[in-house]
Amino acid sequence: MNEVIEAYTGQNPDGNKSRMPAKLDKALTASGVVLAIFMMAHMFFVSTILFGENAMYTITKMFELDFIFDGGLPIIVSIFVGIITVIFVVHALLGIRKFPTSYKAYIKIREHSKMMKHSDTSLWMFQWISGLIMMFIATIHLYIMFTQPENIGPYSSAYRVVNQNMWLLYMVLLICVELHGSIGLYRAAMKWGWFDGKNPKETRKTMMKAKKILSIFFLTLGVVTLFAYIKIGMDRIDHAPMKYNPNDSIQLMKK
Ligand code: HEM
Repeated sequence: MNEVIEAYTGQNPDGNKSRMPAKLDKALTASGVVLAIFMMAHMFFVSTILFGENAMYTITKMFELDFIFDGGLPIIVSIFVGIITVIFVVHALLGIRKFPTSYKAYIKIREHSKMMKHSDTSLWMFQWISGLIMMFIATIHLYIMFTQPENIGPYSSAYRVVNQNMWLLYMVLLICVELHGSIGLYRAAMKWGWFDGKNPKETRKTMMKAKKILSIFFLTLGVVTLFAYIKIGMDRIDHAPMKYNPNDSIQLMKK
């Protein structure tokens, strides 16, 4: 009962202001930071395809711990995907608290945002809209990675991107995730004053610049990487889905 009263009145049983909203906000930031770091690492992992099929294959096998288990164990990837999925769901649930809960509330916020022409408020609008889109489409990707970890690799991934038309989902997901991630880090730094220093106004400008650089870098890397998978998929469009074999890739590609 105490929790109900606290949630509705914003006061804890001692009559002090409830700390719960701040705690939930901290958890939102913490899970967001973990996901943002994961997404940067993920982009570097996926983009190893730019160094050749063998490079991506080697990294894939490394995630399957092939240096411990001979040939690698794809289930290890499933376990990792499971952990990321839990963090993703927790982050989404904490973020939903910020969504406008009715059409009326949405219109009110949109009009406020237009009226104020305040860039940080517009960024907030982008955050919840991109978050909502990701709740639908990121789960598709996570489900595939969870259930088919053995189908990750230069050829299997390219097959999924081209023959199974995942390029479209990845394009939308890429835009949402890279912008949502960099805006999220910027907003968190502003909200909690991580780098405020002596001149918070100057810091804001620097952070905004850093946010833009992050977005442009990861978006460009993401697009180039996606095209690399599309190119491999198109070159092999008539091939049945086939596992990459480091020993005969050259013959396969020449076919
Ligand atoms: C541990 C979990 C994850 C694993 C193992 C994973 C693995 C992969 C792999 C192997 C690809 C290459 C394409 C393919 O094989 O289909 C890929 C692409 C992609 N993933 Fe993930 N992913 C994970 C989580 C996520 C999450 C949480 C997001 C976003 C919310 C995400 C967004 C993307 C995007 C946007 C691409 C396309 C990248 C590009 O080529 O531009 N992934 N992922």
